[in-house]
Amino acid sequence: MVNEKKVAIVGCGFVGSSSAFALMQSGLFSEMVLIDVDKNRAEGEALDIAHGMTFAEPMKIYAGDYSDVADAAMIVVTAGAAQKPGETRLDLVNKNVNIFKSIIPEIKKSGFDGILLIVSNPVDVLTYAAIKMSGLPEGHVIGSGTVLDTGRLQQMLGAHVEVDPRDVQAYVMGEHGDSEFVAWSSAQVAGVPLNTFCELHGHLEHEAAEKRIAEDVKNSAYTIIEKKHATYYGVAMAVKRICTAVMRDEQTVLPVSSLMVGEYGLSDLAISMPTVVGRDGVVCRVPVPLNDDEQHELTASAKALKDIIDSVDF
Ligand code: NAD
Ligand code: LAC
Repeated sequence: MVNEKKVAIVGCGFVGSSSAFALMQSGLFSEMVLIDVDKNRAEGEALDIAHGMTFAEPMKIYAGDYSDVADAAMIVVTAGAAQKPGETRLDLVNKNVNIFKSIIPEIKKSGFDGILLIVSNPVDVLTYAAIKMSGLPEGHVIGSGTVLDTGRLQQMLGAHVEVDPRDVQAYVMGEHGDSEFVAWSSAQVAGVPLNTFCELHGHLEHEAAEKRIAEDVKNSAYTIIEKKHATYYGVAMAVKRICTAVMRDEQTVLPVSSLMVGEYGLSDLAISMPTVVGRDGVVCRVPVPLNDDEQHELTASAKALKDIIDSVDF
């Protein structure tokens, strides 16, 4: 029996603990189990977060193991090595696939039957690995994908056109990483094409601005890692947003990473495109129209991921 109020987090480093902190404040769950190979770390984070709960949402929070995940409604996996300055996400692949080989079979063995949210990098490759290793229905395994990048894009575009970033509709698609791209041709503010909206603010150099903003979004993690060695608050909010869409069955459109089954001519890999997300995980993917350049970028991004997938022994 699935406990609709229970979540597990595997990996309690910067990203796992920040996600736990965000979820404690969300009121979505009444029970949260934290799991890490470093048991002390999980115990310390559980205690620290528990001490904040009387100021937010009371819940049961504790360090546990895989015997605790069977009835969880969701598991968030953030375990694994993170980039060091100068490393790409794809550089982490072998290390983190090996770590997944010690985590996903344990989740499977427990009989877990909820939604598995993958956050560890390279997130698209690890989402694919988790689909293959878990035996869960493919729509029940989602990667955080370009939800964070899309949030970064909305934040930067909102500042550019001086509007609430939540009113900007624009997606980062493809790999969560160096080959990602912005689907500019469908970008809007309140139904107004983005370029028209920009002109209202006196911004006329569309191509230069798009290039600069897309580069800033893509390089955000490098910039932050250079300065403070890790990124975690932004992604923790993205985790909370995805968990909310699932647990409240919101049918929210989010650019999560999931298994492609022919969309845009892509199959047998996980990559991000706008997707309707609800209690069953992936409800359906939204075929956002792409112009020729964007289709080309998507194909190139998928090829970069497929080359990595083909080189890894799952
Ligand atoms: P971290 O080093 O602070 O934490 C990683 C944690 O994983 C550690 O506590 C470690 O003990 C634990 N761990 C390692 N092997 C494990 C295992 N077999 N079982 C359970 N726990 C295990 O790293 P971090 O900064 O929290 O980053 C974690 C991952 O999240 C990285 O891969 C990073 O690249 C990724 N990340 C993804 C996004 C995204 O948007 N998808 C954003 C930021 C970071
Ligand atoms: C991010 C991580 C590193 O912040 O993937 O984008």
